[in-house]
Amino acid sequence: MLQFEAEVLANRTVAPAWKEMALRWAAEAGPPLPGHFVTLRSTRGYDPLLRRPFAIASFEERGREGPAVTILYQVRGPATALLSDLGPGSTVDLLGPLGRPFPDPLPGESPLLAAGGVGLGPVLFLARRLASRGKAAPFAVGFRTASALPDIAFPPGTVLCTDDGSAGERGTPLDWMSHNAPQGAARLLACGPAAMLAAAARLARERGWSASLSAEQWMACGVGVCMGCVLPRPAGAGFLRACADGPVFGLDEIDWEAEARRSAPPAAAAKGGRP
Ligand SMILES: Cc1cc2nc3c(=O)[nH]c(=O)nc-3n(C[C@H](O)[C@H](O)[C@H](O)COP(=O)(O)OP(=O)(O)OC[C@H]3O[C@@H](n4cnc5c(N)ncnc54)[C@H](O)[C@@H]3O)c2cc1C
Ligand code: FES
Repeated sequence: MLQFEAEVLANRTVAPAWKEMALRWAAEAGPPLPGHFVTLRSTRGYDPLLRRPFAIASFEERGREGPAVTILYQVRGPATALLSDLGPGSTVDLLGPLGRPFPDPLPGESPLLAAGGVGLGPVLFLARRLASRGKAAPFAVGFRTASALPDIAFPPGTVLCTDDGSAGERGTPLDWMSHNAPQGAARLLACGPAAMLAAAARLARERGWSASLSAEQWMACGVGVCMGCVLPRPAGAGFLRACADGPVFGLDEIDWEAEARRSAPPAAAAKGGRP
C-alpha cells in the first residue's frame, strides 16, 4: 500500500452520471489485483474531509508510459462531483492498493462472475484478467435499464442484463446465472448492492458452489480503525470490517441476509451525507 499523487490521464462520461477515470499508477505500489480498491481525496481542502473508496476496474503496464489503473464511478455526492470535474493533468491523492482481493478459484472450480450497478468495477477487472489469460468465464452484468449501460469495452462473452428487459437479457445477473450456469463445481465471484449479494449467497448455497462476494460498504477511515464499515458475522458472532477484513468475503464469513436487511434503502438514506 502506498500513498501518492496520481495524475488523471482521462475522465470520460460512460453513462448518465457515470464516469471512467484513468489514473497513473506508481510502480512502487505493486500491481493491484481484482477486488483491490483505492481511497481518493479529490480536494486539497477539508471538504469533503474523508477519503472515498473506489474499486479498481483495470490495470495496464503501458510500457514506457508507465502503469495505469481505471475506476468506474457514479456521481453521487460532493466527492464524486469534485472528481467528475477533474481533467487530464490534474492529480488526486491516492492510497492503495487496499483490501483483500478475489481469490483464485480452487482446482476443479469454474469461475462464474456477476456484477450489479456500481459493483461492476472489481468484477470487470477480474473478467478482463481471466479473458487476457485465455480463461474467459461466464460474466453477467446487471443494470436497471438500457440508458444506464456504460459505454465501455466488455470482455467477449459478457452477458448484459436489464431489470426491465430494455436491453440484453431481462432480469438480474443472478437470474441469468441460475438458468445458464454450466453444471459442476463452481465459484461465484460477485459484487453489487447488499440485496444482490444476499441473492448470490442463496444461489451459491442451493447449487453447492463456493462464493467470494465483494461488499461496497459505507466507509469512513478506510483503514480498519473506526468500525464504520462492518458487516455481521453469522450466528451473532460479531462483525467484520469491509475495509480491513474484506471487501471480498467468503460465503460463510458474513450473514448476507442480515446485511441486506440492515442496508435496505430507507436505512441507507437515513445515514445522510458524509463529511
Ligand atoms: C470497497 C468499495 C469500493 C467502491 N467502489 C466503487 C466504484 O467502483 N464505483 C462507485 O461509483 N462507487 C464505489 N464505491 C462507493 C463510493 O465510495 C461512493 O459512491 C462515494 O464514496 C460517494 O462519495 P460522495 O461524496 O460523492 O457521496 P456521499 O455524500 O458520500 O454519498 C452520497 C449518497 O450516495 C449513497 N452512498 C454513498 N456511498 C455508498 C455506499 N458505499 N453504499 C451505498 N450507498 C452509498 C448514499 O445514499 C449517500 O447519501 C465503493 C465503496 C467501497 C466501500
Ligand atoms: S472504514 Fe473505518 S474501519 Fe472500515
